Amino acid sequence: MAGILEGKVALVTGGASGIGQATAVVMAREGARVAVADRAEADAAGTVALINAAGGQAIAIGGDVTREAEVAAMVARTVSAFGRIDCAFNNAGISGRAVGPAGQRSHELSQEAFDTMLAVNVRGVFLCLKHEVKQMLAQGGGGAIVNTASIAGLIGLATSAHYVAAKHGVVGLTKSAAIEYALDGIRVNCVNPGYVATPMTKDIIDERGQDILAKVPMRRFGVPNEIAEAVAWMCSDKASFMTGASHVIDGGYQAA
Ligand SMILES: NC(=O)c1ccc[n+]([C@@H]2O[C@H](COP(=O)([O-])OP(=O)(O)OC[C@H]3O[C@@H](n4cnc5c(N)ncnc54)[C@H](O)[C@@H]3O)[C@@H](O)[C@H]2O)c1
Repeated sequence: MAGILEGKVALVTGGASGIGQATAVVMAREGARVAVADRAEADAAGTVALINAAGGQAIAIGGDVTREAEVAAMVARTVSAFGRIDCAFNNAGISGRAVGPAGQRSHELSQEAFDTMLAVNVRGVFLCLKHEVKQMLAQGGGGAIVNTASIAGLIGLATSAHYVAAKHGVVGLTKSAAIEYALDGIRVNCVNPGYVATPMTKDIIDERGQDILAKVPMRRFGVPNEIAEAVAWMCSDKASFMTGASHVIDGGYQAA
């Protein structure tokens, strides 16, 4: 039976770990040929090995999404391997812990921490979107892009102002691009996960998991596959009227 992404080519950033890795694997299962991009290139090769072992087709690409030349090279490498790009998952990102101590309120955040956060989590998404859309337009239009935002793109969270600002930025980029490219057949959406158990959230869950769960109506953390299945569907033609949307997957956190 053909998968929902049969014949399509997908580029996944942050594909070496967590949500990106799970999504690359699901996209390949659904028939896509997948370019797995990450600054951790050796780990991206691990995702490719998982895909190949399951009978899929994938390549690993190293690169940093904050650098435009490297993003352009990721897109070029995908096209040289597979001929085109139909779907993109702009998912590479960092948490507050990557840029400074946990628990800082806005007045305690350094400019450097703020700038690094925005460079990865917003500029990175912008640069990927820019070069993917250029390629999709050059192919004659059509395509589907999903950006990883977060519930932090829709609500405030204490001691995460830089992360929240960045993820609200991703929602804004998504809406603007959706409007700009609607008539080119390029759909642009974002996925807004709640708390999902990945390497990024391991320390947070270890330190204050019970406090977080008290605010999650389902009283559990998500698993990467629960985001991956939705993203694969959003990239498929089954989601043909969906664009500019924020798709929340959070066990009810935001509704409570
Ligand atoms: N885990 C959660 O609870 C959660 C919730 C909401 C949103 N998110 C978002 O989901 C995305 C994936 O997070 P995850 O939990 O899977 O984390 P993760 O740390 O498991 O994976 C993130 C990947 O992105 C890569 N990466 C980071 N900076 C990069 C850069 N500059 N260039 C290229 N690659 C880079 C890392 O090497 C890593 O492989 C992030 O954007 C994160 O903000 C996660």
